[in-house]
Amino acid sequence: MVNGSTPTVADGLAGVVAAQTRLSSVDGEAGELIIAGFPVAELASRASFEETVYLLWHDHLPSPGPLAAFREELAACRDLPQVTLNLLQAAASQKTAVIDALRMAVNTLGLPAAHDSRQAAIRLVAAFPTIVTAYWRLLNQLEPLPARPDLGHAANYLYMLFGWEPEPEQVHGLETYLNTVVDHGMNASTFTARVIISTQSDMISAVGGALGALKGPLHGGAPGPALDMIFEIGDTARVEPYLRRKLAAGERLMGFGHRVYKVRDPRAEVLAAAAARLYRSNNQQALYQLACQVEQMAVALLAEYKPGRQLQTNVEFYTALLLHGLGLTSDLFTPTFAISRVAGWTAHCFEQQRLNRLIRPQSAYVGSKDRRWIPVEQRLN
Ligand code: ACO
Repeated sequence: MVNGSTPTVADGLAGVVAAQTRLSSVDGEAGELIIAGFPVAELASRASFEETVYLLWHDHLPSPGPLAAFREELAACRDLPQVTLNLLQAAASQKTAVIDALRMAVNTLGLPAAHDSRQAAIRLVAAFPTIVTAYWRLLNQLEPLPARPDLGHAANYLYMLFGWEPEPEQVHGLETYLNTVVDHGMNASTFTARVIISTQSDMISAVGGALGALKGPLHGGAPGPALDMIFEIGDTARVEPYLRRKLAAGERLMGFGHRVYKVRDPRAEVLAAAAARLYRSNNQQALYQLACQVEQMAVALLAEYKPGRQLQTNVEFYTALLLHGLGLTSDLFTPTFAISRVAGWTAHCFEQQRLNRLIRPQSAYVGSKDRRWIPVEQRLN
């Protein structure tokens, strides 16, 4: 408080510690991300997505029996109710964006399960890929495909999108991505989920709200534009003039800068390695090389145009490349981020419910206090 009465505002809540968590730790100066005890590079390319979800929900990795049971439980909850399919059909006829269709469809999942948090969480994690794939196919005049219970979460997602069983390299690439972005401290969407669940609302509402926060370009909506930028550049000779033009015009380079990381985002590290491996296997090395040059030049020019800001590569840059290499169109990038992050949101909801105290910060009033009522016919503005 200043002068005992005016509270100091933490702009954007930067630096405010809003909760204790065992789920993930982000050290922006050291460039370190820990997920439930594991450095991200230790976990991301080794775990199946089901193992990572289990880890977040239970704070330990499952042994074979519980893992098999968990996989089965998730696989059994993939199908969508008719009401959800009807909504997706109506949304497709309006050409609604995939992320918005997902946001709307989530709210139809809730009815019987909404107040049993574990049931709701299973349902949400299991059904996200079904919603996204069914909707994307409808949007592209294709019939939605039934889930394949014999396939794991990541493989089944690719199968339901494209209709063929993915190669192991593709499953590995997607699984690495899903594990890498599953949780990330008190980011905007996670905070949103925790605020909603702290009111003793239900898990479906918390996840619906979180999705609304995720879709903004300053949070999860950046990978599409990051990929567009690489394609617009198109050739190594154009990298520097293109980036200079953007920065000189005061534009932001998508895929760079982060509120917390002041060094290269450790997730960019993991995803760059996964993209390199995928692009080696599908013979698209030229695009990967171009992206590396764009990254190098962008970081150098950001230091020149924004000295002292420490703007480095963030997770979205290599997300774009990796997901493109898996055959995903850019309208699927943010929904695929959500397919992973829903596990983090639900884990945070469980954590918030265990230690719950209503999240209710304050604001500093800066408006006037002495207005007097003027009847409508006398108002001049
Ligand atoms: N390109 C050019 N300039 C940038 C960039 C960028 N990518 N990022 C920040 N800046 C500049 C700003 O223009 C500002 O400069 P100024 O003070 O001279 O006006 C300065 O750096 C600080 O910017 P802020 O917006 O205050 O920084 P903040 O920490 O709030 O922003 C953010 C972080 C939103 C991610 C920002 O870096 C950005 O817009 N990046 C591009 C979008 C993006 O990649 N988003 C995905 C983030 S990762 C994630 O959430 C999953």
